[in-house]
Amino acid sequence: MAEAAGDGGWPEPVVRVQALSESGAATIPDRYVRPETERPSSSSEANAVANINIPVVDMSSSPGTAAAAVAEACREWGFFQAVNHGVPAALLRRARGVWRGFFQQPMEVKQRYGNSPATYEGYGSRLGVDKGAILDWGDYYFLHVRPPHLLSPHKWPHLPPDLRETTTEYSEEVRRLCERLMAVMAVGLGVEEGRLQEAFGGGEGAGVCVRVNYYPRCPQPDLTLGLSSHSDPGGMTVLLVDDRVKGLQVRHTGAWVTVDPVPGAFIVNVGDQIQVVTNALYRSVEHRVVVNAAEERLSIATFYNPRSDLPVAPLPELVSPERPPLYSPMTFDDYRLYIRRNGPRGKSQVDRLAAAAATIPNSTTTTQ
Ligand code: OGA
Ligand code: NI
Repeated sequence: MAEAAGDGGWPEPVVRVQALSESGAATIPDRYVRPETERPSSSSEANAVANINIPVVDMSSSPGTAAAAVAEACREWGFFQAVNHGVPAALLRRARGVWRGFFQQPMEVKQRYGNSPATYEGYGSRLGVDKGAILDWGDYYFLHVRPPHLLSPHKWPHLPPDLRETTTEYSEEVRRLCERLMAVMAVGLGVEEGRLQEAFGGGEGAGVCVRVNYYPRCPQPDLTLGLSSHSDPGGMTVLLVDDRVKGLQVRHTGAWVTVDPVPGAFIVNVGDQIQVVTNALYRSVEHRVVVNAAEERLSIATFYNPRSDLPVAPLPELVSPERPPLYSPMTFDDYRLYIRRNGPRGKSQVDRLAAAAATIPNSTTTTQ
């Protein structure tokens, strides 16, 4: 990638959204103002359907019950909330606490970890390198956790002191949950329990990345988004959201549904790679984040991805003359490169790859 004039490979000097927010300005810079049709309360889209929420799945219910509930959620919504998932509540609190602690550090501490578009690891404030692009109202921290050769300890924050240990423990627990979810999703499809994991190259080579999103208070929340509409490019995402402050919206039958978080739950969603492996029986669905004037919001997304050098393709069991393969094999390395080049406003490759695109919902951006 050519080094553009600017800041660490970014096309323009990097502006921290947190600094904009803390400046106390009553208006947001033009760079964050979205066209009317993309604003949170755009009248061109059916909006904020009342009394409807993404499905809730009890992970402690009998294996058959959980598999059926997960399968229905992955087909109909691409999203569900997992409760009784087995990750201790105290660990969730600690993970949120250390990352709040990081974003509360003085700016000069955070700036030591400023990221670049080469790997995105570190402290970041934009996705994609389109000069002049409209930006999202959020900062983030992105890290590779697995496989071991992608772990770069020098890119992990040193403050607060217990951040590293807590993040390691947290991501390991979530990785184990992802392995369980892969098995449950496979059973729900009617294929053998280990098949999805096999299609991802087994457990050892699977990729785990963590993206901590920090959405500062915004003086004009109706004009902007914390994270613009996207589908997640990887396998699946396990998201820990703020129990109190809402913000995540999921596209469902043409409307944006605001997720009402169950305290202590994880929000699980299907990524593009599971859509490919399941030949679009399970769907990666567009989602976005709205911000608000009263409260900041923190979320921790753990991305579980296939081994990155393995061609990913629909499972043969899910292909038939009536349902031919919708995708040709592609490695996650190639897929991610495509998405990162195209940046937040690129159209998702998963739909471009589809031979029968008409049956697949559109996706627009990426966060990994
Ligand atoms: C993401 C994402 C949602 C949120 O990081 O990919 O969709 O609520 N985050 O922060
Ligand atoms: Ni996402």
